[in-house]
Amino acid sequence: MTDLTPLCRLVILISGRGSNMQAIVSMIEEQGLPAQVCAVISNQIDAEGVNWAKERGLTTACISHRDFATRADFDQALLQEIDNYQPDYVLLAGFMRVLSPFFVEHYHGRLINIHPSLLPSFPGLRTHEQALQAGVQCHGSTVHFVTPVLDHGPIVAQSIIPVLASDTPESLSERVLATEHVVYTAAVRWLIQGQVHLDAQGKVQVKDLEQRSFYFHA
Ligand code: GAR
Repeated sequence: MTDLTPLCRLVILISGRGSNMQAIVSMIEEQGLPAQVCAVISNQIDAEGVNWAKERGLTTACISHRDFATRADFDQALLQEIDNYQPDYVLLAGFMRVLSPFFVEHYHGRLINIHPSLLPSFPGLRTHEQALQAGVQCHGSTVHFVTPVLDHGPIVAQSIIPVLASDTPESLSERVLATEHVVYTAAVRWLIQGQVHLDAQGKVQVKDLEQRSFYFHA
């Protein structure tokens, strides 16, 4: 019997280690989901995650932002490279670039990011330092549809951890990262299975999903 289910086409963008990308690739393989990671694209030539993806037999591409005079030029080249793969979803997994509004609009409803904080708290960089400084007792990560506003957009899922008296930015970062792998793989599975989508009003619609928060103990 031939399986005619079309594969969900994914392109993953990274800038470094790529542990979220690795978790997503492994989850798709292990769970036999109807999806294909068509390419892993990095803006850093020496990104650790690119080597992992190559060893895994995935198609990789590097487009260095340093080779372009303006942000818009880089984003246009990136968009053209991504569109070669005709993705259903573009997953930002530690992709450390601010994207132009035209790029974000082009992928409206198809561009997903993970951010290491409980958005809307602590957008931007050094989120774990920001959380400690604010004295919050819960911290975590957020998977969201990307909008032109940085680290903002309709929330797909969140992971939540307690902040401990002994926490440092490093310890928080390590504990949050472990939960990112759980929450991002779950969110990508829902997208692949058609359980989550962005509607015409910009709201997240879900099917057969009661809970989209993941709580972790210390
Ligand atoms: C992750 O913590 C991710 O949430 C963060 O970069 C790290 C990448 O790790 N992303 C952002 O800060 C984006 N604003 P990874 O390369 O091992 O997946």
